[in-house]
Amino acid sequence: MNEKLRIGMIGMGCRGREVMKTVLGIDGVSISFICDLYDDRTEAARAEIEKRQGFSPRVTDDWHTMTDREELDAVLVTCSWEPHIEMAVAFMEAGIPVGVEVGGAYSVEDCFLLVRTFERTKTPVMLLENCCYGRYELMVKNMVDLGLFGEIVHCEGGYRHDLRREITFGRENRHYRLRNYLARCCENYPTHELGPISQILHINRGNRMVSLVSMASKAKGLHDYIGRTDDADRSLLNRDFAQGDVVTTIIKCANGETVTLTLDTTLPRAYSRQFTVQGTRGMYSEENNSIYLDRDHTEDMHFSWKKQWNNAEKYRERYEHPIWREFLADGLRGGHGGMDHLVYSDFLRCVREGLPMPIDAYDMASLMCISALSEQSIATGSMPVAIPDFTSGKWISRT
Ligand SMILES: NC(=O)c1ccc[n+]([C@@H]2O[C@H](COP(=O)([O-])OP(=O)(O)OC[C@H]3O[C@@H](n4cnc5c(N)ncnc54)[C@H](O)[C@@H]3O)[C@@H](O)[C@H]2O)c1
Repeated sequence: MNEKLRIGMIGMGCRGREVMKTVLGIDGVSISFICDLYDDRTEAARAEIEKRQGFSPRVTDDWHTMTDREELDAVLVTCSWEPHIEMAVAFMEAGIPVGVEVGGAYSVEDCFLLVRTFERTKTPVMLLENCCYGRYELMVKNMVDLGLFGEIVHCEGGYRHDLRREITFGRENRHYRLRNYLARCCENYPTHELGPISQILHINRGNRMVSLVSMASKAKGLHDYIGRTDDADRSLLNRDFAQGDVVTTIIKCANGETVTLTLDTTLPRAYSRQFTVQGTRGMYSEENNSIYLDRDHTEDMHFSWKKQWNNAEKYRERYEHPIWREFLADGLRGGHGGMDHLVYSDFLRCVREGLPMPIDAYDMASLMCISALSEQSIATGSMPVAIPDFTSGKWISRT
């Protein structure tokens, strides 16, 4: 392996350009090959990379030309959702470690293909779920691991983000969400919340997700928004959006826990991942950033709980996760409050040192399959759907 890791990137849209900056801020890395379907996007990225690292990356609009392992040490897939698994499989076949941005799967078969390709090729693959490195998510995980919340019984999470503009201006911005919202109804973005929750619940390491049910509300938010937004694409009023405004999914785990996911992206609201963890001795709620512990709180505080909003800050000094203690000491950097730096540098460290990926093929398949399974459940009147065991029983003893 060269002294510097030579990185290829596919997808130089909004996320790709953000990731490019994060990656160029990591020591021992150069971006040597980039790809996008649009020339203006690759040219803007190429010029910026040249300015930052002193030489120009190669450029292509056909990612298949990037599979030479003599040329690249790792590839980052930062493009639209649809080809993520196809690309991951092709790079694993080529023996090039691959990190894939977040998004859901379109079929369970694709998830099995991902896992089987990893098992056969042993090429590292990682889902680049930055929220698994979130400061609150990790502090709460630390507290759970230390037993402060007792036995975990229920978790909640959501992707609650008003994306009405991003979706309805999709033609103008060449953005993939528009075609997905027109065509599909599902929990299309489960991993921001389910990633951290699955780590807390030890999914694929002593526990697994067994079944789910999903229900979608009607789809009204986007038409209402288009109808009263002057510069919106009014031709979309003649189209029906398949995607319901709010999709609720309930997952049952082998060890008995339940998890509720909420996708809520087409109505007015403030951003929240609604991260909630409830155990026999305590709970955390992102919605008011509070921690309730039997140890520290009493029943007579229930009705004056507003006074405790934001009390999670009081626990920070003692329970900040070691990853964040070290990161803050070194200097906060990278997008999304630092989570992007942490996830990308962890992936690149594992590539360099030949270590197992922290969010591996089994985790990636388990998290991504929720989209395809929720689509099935919604299409069949919220019937329960089995979640496959992608580990073929290895979850029982994997650590
Ligand atoms: N982790 C995060 O916080 C975060 C935030 C935003 C987006 N994302 C993820 O990043 C990805 C991209 O999102 P975005 O907002 O940048 O979308 P975008 O539409 O701005 O960019 C996607 C780019 O992918 C390119 N692309 C699509 N298919 C391609 C192909 N076959 N070959 C080469 N290029 C191709 C498109 O041309 C486009 O430029 C998605 O998976 C999204 O979920 C993650």
